[in-house]
Amino acid sequence: MERMDDDKPKKITLYLLFCVSTAVIGSLQFGYNTGVINAPEQKLHRFFQNVSMERYGEPFSQGTNTMVWSFAVAIFSVGGMVGSFSVGAVVNKFGRRKSMLLANILALVGGGLMGLSLLSQSFEMIIIGRLIIGVFCGLSTGLTPMYIGEISPTTLRGAFGTLHQLGVVIGILVSQIFGLEFLLGSETLWPLLLALTILPAILQSIMLPFCPESPRYLIIVLNQEEEARKALVRLRGYEDVSDDIQEMKEEGMKMAMEKKVTIPELFRSPNYRQPIIIAIVLQLSQQLSGINAVFYYSTGIFDKAGVTQPIYATIGAGVVNTVFTVVSLFLVERVGRRTLHLIGLGGMAICALLMTIALSLVDTNQSLSYLAIVAVFGFVASFEMGPGPIPWFIVAELFSQGPRPAAMAVSGLSNWTANFIVGLSFRQLEDLCGPYVFIIFMVLLILFFIFTFLRVPETKGRTFDDIAQGFAASAGRSAQSPVPDSVAVSLTESKEAPPMSP
Ligand code: GLC
Repeated sequence: MERMDDDKPKKITLYLLFCVSTAVIGSLQFGYNTGVINAPEQKLHRFFQNVSMERYGEPFSQGTNTMVWSFAVAIFSVGGMVGSFSVGAVVNKFGRRKSMLLANILALVGGGLMGLSLLSQSFEMIIIGRLIIGVFCGLSTGLTPMYIGEISPTTLRGAFGTLHQLGVVIGILVSQIFGLEFLLGSETLWPLLLALTILPAILQSIMLPFCPESPRYLIIVLNQEEEARKALVRLRGYEDVSDDIQEMKEEGMKMAMEKKVTIPELFRSPNYRQPIIIAIVLQLSQQLSGINAVFYYSTGIFDKAGVTQPIYATIGAGVVNTVFTVVSLFLVERVGRRTLHLIGLGGMAICALLMTIALSLVDTNQSLSYLAIVAVFGFVASFEMGPGPIPWFIVAELFSQGPRPAAMAVSGLSNWTANFIVGLSFRQLEDLCGPYVFIIFMVLLILFFIFTFLRVPETKGRTFDDIAQGFAASAGRSAQSPVPDSVAVSLTESKEAPPMSP
């Protein structure tokens, strides 16, 4: 069972849309909690001071206050690392759907703690709340793409996979808007802003029982073919789902012949080594592109570039971010993952250079602040063409059912760790390099471009099994012949999948 027949109906049923939308609420939560902490920064500083006054009779020193603040920001990514790394174990124990349901408990607890922090005069509740919400978001970044990848038909897997990122960017935008002073970003309402994450968690918990467990999980792990068939008929909207079932069974049979894939095994087995390296590097390319330097600190960047209303330029970046994710959604099944990722990385590198020119010369030429805005918008737009959406869903594509959970865990951890490092070090790097700070990202972007060009195969329109076989074949070939891995992979997979016999 290899490529999908072109005459198979490409039907998008309402039920499939409902299930995908339900899962995407997890993505929205990740985006919202990524962006939400920016706006109320000053209010939180004052809150910490007040607590200190009340408890110790004197305010925190400037240093202590900054430390508490940085801790509250960074601990979110630490939670993300823990959550994303637990994905493999959690889905293997509870299945995909129940895992999403259980994860919502974390959102309720974390949101509740932050929402009640002002009332309880406790900054610890914010820190613990952020940690718990981080674990929840880490889980979501694995669970949502995995569930969507597994319920989508092969021909639409990329487009639906991009919906995860669309959820993320809409979440960021909503947090930027709600965070405005006259909405929830005010002195008294910020706890509500932080607690708002509870609402989508409740909504998703109500919707999930109407979604099926992933049919792939039902067949391959639980061996429940009848249940899986029922789910597939509803998801696909036609009765004859034998092709899908057959494909899943074949994947399951191959999996039964392998022993359970552990994380060390991913690196040891020649069949998995190639795809796990690709998965990790793609995730690193997303974070080390510097995107979150823009999202965490854009207002400061615009300010330095002499933009008069930086907060609105930041919201503008959020809008561009959303629009270009939609553009990618429509292109990904036509142009392919590999090409879009290359276009995105290349575009970002050019914009990083433009941003550097603008930031370094704006003092002598005021009109360059417009160039800074254009460069930031171009940077964000290029990101959403490829490096934003693709790494999140391509990991599910690069692996078959057996190694997928372990691979999601490892690659998710890489993403969150890189996110943590950029978030923590950007301020220091900026102090060190001044307006030239984006040159660092430009160099990294060029390296990731070269890697993608040489190593990353196209996965568009190919079944999971076909993709896994491609890697196995190239691993076998490189074991027998002196041809280096990179050449073997790029020769066999960098173009369209070769036509396969049924
Ligand atoms: C991706 C990244 C996330 C970033 C967002 C920006 O989802 O994983 O860290 O904030 O894109 O759109």
